[in-house]
Amino acid sequence: MNSVTVRVPAKVNLQLAVGPLRDDGYHDLVNVFHAVSVFDEVTAVAETGMSVRVEGESADQVPEDGDNLAIQAAVALARHAGRSYGVSLAIRKAIPVAGGMAGGSADAAAALVACNELWGLGLPTEDLMEIAADLGSDVPFALLGGTAVGTGRGERLTPVEVGGTFHWVFALADGGLSTATVYGECDRVREADGQGVPLPRTSEALLAALRAGDARALGAELTNDLQPAALSLRESLGRTLQAGRACGALGGLVSGSGPTCAFLAESEAHATELAASLKGAGVARDVLTAYGPVPGPTVV
Ligand code: C5P
Repeated sequence: MNSVTVRVPAKVNLQLAVGPLRDDGYHDLVNVFHAVSVFDEVTAVAETGMSVRVEGESADQVPEDGDNLAIQAAVALARHAGRSYGVSLAIRKAIPVAGGMAGGSADAAAALVACNELWGLGLPTEDLMEIAADLGSDVPFALLGGTAVGTGRGERLTPVEVGGTFHWVFALADGGLSTATVYGECDRVREADGQGVPLPRTSEALLAALRAGDARALGAELTNDLQPAALSLRESLGRTLQAGRACGALGGLVSGSGPTCAFLAESEAHATELAASLKGAGVARDVLTAYGPVPGPTVV
């Protein structure tokens, strides 16, 4: 085999509870990840060296050198296997870049799956998970897909039972937000408030809504502790969230570290309507509809 293509979904966080800053610069989280049907595609072709090329949505904002997380994933996998493999990666992006939907993590997870296949390594998922956790806090979930609770940095995962399909609308913003900057702003805002930061706890009401497949209940339980920080860095997101509510979303929040905003709809038809209203309101660069949960990386 000399070419493997993997399709990999974006994520939205249904609950993102952020604990106090740890000594290692990370925060303990309760992070309920939900994979949604916005997909990047990563094609791996056997080569002597390592290279990456990016095309599609905001491709010019993605590095095509060693800073690219997908290339880092390929290098880490080759090192794990103890061999000097090469690969040329082509990434077709649909997931917003630096948008809080784990696009970079998705590409890294796809590269792990594609190179594992291309190089005939046959490594089990547990091995890939370990490499994934070293690449970034969201990469293990990007390998898993579906819906799961992440604890620790977000890398320790427990799959969650979901009793239905949920329909989403995503409002894309101009430009991205750096995850590290948003966490830093979260610490700053909290310090300025002078309030203690409680340990993050999973919302049982949110898990019950997921189990029941109850969109209305889920809409009421969506929370993101990074939202005040994202709003502080990007004031216009307040108007986007307000417009989503005014247009009849069951719930809305900043996705991860933003600046993408996610809105929950009652049905596929309602998501289409909501997307049109949001587009008309002029509060987003672009608007996408999607559903979740969807499976993780899939060889196509
Ligand atoms: O793990 P990853 O490299 O994706 O994280 C990017 C940045 O996000 C970290 O450098 C850190 O500033 C912040 N982060 C955090 N706590 C987490 C995950 C990420 O503070 N649990």
